[in-house]
Amino acid sequence: MLDKNIILIGIMGSGKTTISKLIAQKLNRPLIDMDDYIVDKFHMTINEMFDISEDYFRDRETECCKDMAKLTGHVISTGGGVIKRKENVAFLKENGVIFYLDRPIPLIVEDVETSSRPLLKEGADKLYRLDEERRQLYLDACDYHIINDSSLEDVTNIIINKIGAR
Ligand code: S3P
Repeated sequence: MLDKNIILIGIMGSGKTTISKLIAQKLNRPLIDMDDYIVDKFHMTINEMFDISEDYFRDRETECCKDMAKLTGHVISTGGGVIKRKENVAFLKENGVIFYLDRPIPLIVEDVETSSRPLLKEGADKLYRLDEERRQLYLDACDYHIINDSSLEDVTNIIINKIGAR
């Protein structure tokens, strides 16, 4: 049987990019960061797409989720808003196991990078509102809910063990 993709979802700053890199290294699997993939595919930055409109970005994001459904055996880090459209989650689930990385918001607010994230233009405190709006969507979309409040190494191993036990 072909390996399912390992897919990380969660709010901006929850650790998806860092932890996906560690999982890919440990399992020797190819890695896709969907934000980078979107930028490469459409030759525009995320800020430029949002300058047109959020819908413009979301449509591009959906096209990329469709691409992900064709892959197997990858580790895929998604953008925090990917769960806003049901069709995105359906594409990701076609060949993937979804892990919700849930990092306490106060920890994220301390160190999240805001300049490349159009939704955090007004400041990282916006994350509290986004978390309220999206938490249930993350919970509904995921196969596993992983609390990310320990070391990167521990969280990486928890995810790898869940995949191994399937
Ligand atoms: C977004 C999260 C970002 C990026 C875009 C929109 C969101 O990805 O896709 O700025 O709606 O939460 P990260 O979660 O990787 O920062």
